[in-house]
Amino acid sequence: MDRYAVIGNPVAHSKSPQIHAEFARLTGERLTYSTLLAPLNDFAGTVTEFIQSGGKGLNVTVPFKVEAFDFAYSLSDRAQAAGAVNTLSFNAGEIVGDNTDGAGLVRDITYNLRFPIQGRRILLLGAGGAARGVILPLFAEDPSMIVIANRTVARAEELAAHFSSHARIESMSFDSDALQAGQFDLIINATAASLGNDSLPLPATVFSKDALAYDMMYGKGDLPFLNLARQAGAQTADGLGMLVEQAAESFFIWRGVRPYTASVLKQLRDS
Ligand code: ATR
Repeated sequence: MDRYAVIGNPVAHSKSPQIHAEFARLTGERLTYSTLLAPLNDFAGTVTEFIQSGGKGLNVTVPFKVEAFDFAYSLSDRAQAAGAVNTLSFNAGEIVGDNTDGAGLVRDITYNLRFPIQGRRILLLGAGGAARGVILPLFAEDPSMIVIANRTVARAEELAAHFSSHARIESMSFDSDALQAGQFDLIINATAASLGNDSLPLPATVFSKDALAYDMMYGKGDLPFLNLARQAGAQTADGLGMLVEQAAESFFIWRGVRPYTASVLKQLRDS
């Protein structure tokens, strides 16, 4: 059977083996999918060993997405734009890197949540790897603009400059007047603030009527950003749907079959 795994450190907590096992069952694909713990100083050696033992593909998680980018021989456009790789494919000596995170986010928003992005004003919170990874796929949906806001405003400026050929991209700090008067339709939290259970200094006026607030994180309790959004009257979603959809996109790259995700997402929500 073809072998796949998710590589990370730590990785034991990953839901990917459960998700891919269910995709395999639903599509009738014969494969195995496990976790692969790499030492922090030996990502390349661990991947090489996996390839030599016949492994077909890897999902890559924290903290190796940039190392995976450097490791791949060829890169998709979206991996190139993200500067990071979350999906590696090994075929006949080739090592191909792709990034399905942004596609997963877009698919969850537009398909699962039925929230069209075209013509909408997007506020993207954060300017690290997570934010960078979703910008190109968001632009592909033709929003009217993307504004990047970050605690360290210089990083937001740098990221906006990196994508400036796409026009309609701006940067600002959390306390800028423009953000106060924002009225955004889609507000995406790509900061690590929810990890530490921290809230972000956002005014209620940032959410337009019928806005969707999306946190790329997910967790047991209510995330502070989503609480704030709910109090302002916005719709809310956590990143569990993105997790399942990025996995489905990786599965499609490897197997050429797109799994049906609704039952998998429901299973994860219920558990
Ligand atoms: P990742 O790959 O997850 O994006 P990262 O590159 O370390 O990780 O970026 C983390 C992001 O979360 C940054 O935008 C960071 O803001 P700074 O650039 O100002 O550091 C943001 N972040 C982390 N903790 C935060 C907090 N408590 N409040 C606001 N922003 C936070």
